[in-house]
Amino acid sequence: MEHLHQSFTVQYHYNVFFTSSLFSPENELLNSFLVNLNPAAAIKKILFVIDKGVADAHPGLTTQIKAYFLQHHRTQLVQDMLVIPGGEQVKNDTGYFDQVLEAINTYGIDRHSFVAAIGGGAVLDMVGYAATVAHRGIKHIRIPSTVLSQNDSGVGVKNGINYFNKKNFLGTFSPPVAVFNDEVFLNTLSDRDWRSGIAEAVKVALIKDAGFFEWLETNAVALANRDTAAMNYQIWKCAKLHMEHIRSADPFENGSARPLDFGHWSAHKLEYLTNFEVRHGEAVAMGIALDTVYSNLSGRISAEDARRVINLIQQLGFELTHPLLQVKEGNSPILDGLEEFREHLGGQLTITLLTGLGSGEEVHEIDADILKQAAEILNQQTASIQH
Ligand SMILES: NC(=O)c1ccc[n+]([C@@H]2O[C@H](COP(=O)([O-])OP(=O)(O)OC[C@H]3O[C@@H](n4cnc5c(N)ncnc54)[C@H](O)[C@@H]3O)[C@@H](O)[C@H]2O)c1
Ligand SMILES: [Zn+2]
Repeated sequence: MEHLHQSFTVQYHYNVFFTSSLFSPENELLNSFLVNLNPAAAIKKILFVIDKGVADAHPGLTTQIKAYFLQHHRTQLVQDMLVIPGGEQVKNDTGYFDQVLEAINTYGIDRHSFVAAIGGGAVLDMVGYAATVAHRGIKHIRIPSTVLSQNDSGVGVKNGINYFNKKNFLGTFSPPVAVFNDEVFLNTLSDRDWRSGIAEAVKVALIKDAGFFEWLETNAVALANRDTAAMNYQIWKCAKLHMEHIRSADPFENGSARPLDFGHWSAHKLEYLTNFEVRHGEAVAMGIALDTVYSNLSGRISAEDARRVINLIQQLGFELTHPLLQVKEGNSPILDGLEEFREHLGGQLTITLLTGLGSGEEVHEIDADILKQAAEILNQQTASIQH
């Protein structure tokens, strides 16, 4: 019998909105979005899952959300909002994933209703995963509350949790229906979380946009000193570059390459090795430093370019390296990170290295001796700064 062929395309589109005080009574943005998506006048439900770090820092938040939906009653708010801890623990412990599924089940959230997550990248990743597997996919709305989630993790298409001690072992490629970046949330971030996400901007600038790299150099001190205007531009530009890349390249990552993961192979491993004491963005800054020095030692970029990258990372206030990133004789835990990275992406090992400030190339092999040397250089540089 003749074989049957199947082929179709599914179009995805969503907006990332930039706003201030999303739930203030006069802010129509969220309500208009919900009403436009639902012109049939049927009442749809919305379930909120909130990062406890955000709820604690903004004590009036749940009251404000209730008042907002009292006023905008075309969408029915589930009054019982789920508040869960923030940080990597929500991706490590499947109990939180179960809690979201339970709430979806208990409150009858169907595929025409919404799950809205407010929080850092970890909470958004986990809630997005729960929403996209329940009933084969409930519409999810992301309301990122950290720099990293507003400029990177919240604007993309990936959701996930950690499993078998491996980051994002379980997950989905499934875009949100909308993202609302509210600048007010950023005011309450710790200095660490304010800074952490800027590492993703350095990353995307280095592989895609030399002009943005120069902008970051010019504005590094302002960013480190919590200048709001500089931060807002950084977030907008970084989100834009991420979205353009996702749209133009390989949104659901069918290939083995993942240029947006420049600096990430060692970062993911370091996060585990330090039991998540080192934040994702902090680890990424160290991973960028390592792969930048490696790019120089392997003849891809000049010493001057490498120096500019290291300077920027330091000016932003990041540590350059960590003892666990050192490559020792024999087996080093960080080297296992290479194989784990390959396994996660599937296929051949593919690491992005720099060929200039704003351009990268994919390589399929990493030389352990050069890596060791790169790690040592950063270690010495750190030591010379501290003493
Ligand atoms: N899906 C993706 O494409 C993607 C991309 C990059 C990173 N990530 C993931 O994102 C996660 C890191 O996200 P993150 O950097 O946002 O950190 P995070 O989610 O771990 O949050 C850090 C801390 O900030 C607190 N917090 C959040 N918002 C706050 C606010 N407004 N005020 C005060 N405290 C607040 C949280 O409670 C938490 O304690 C990692 O799991 C990483 O793997 C995902
Ligand atoms: Zn990242």
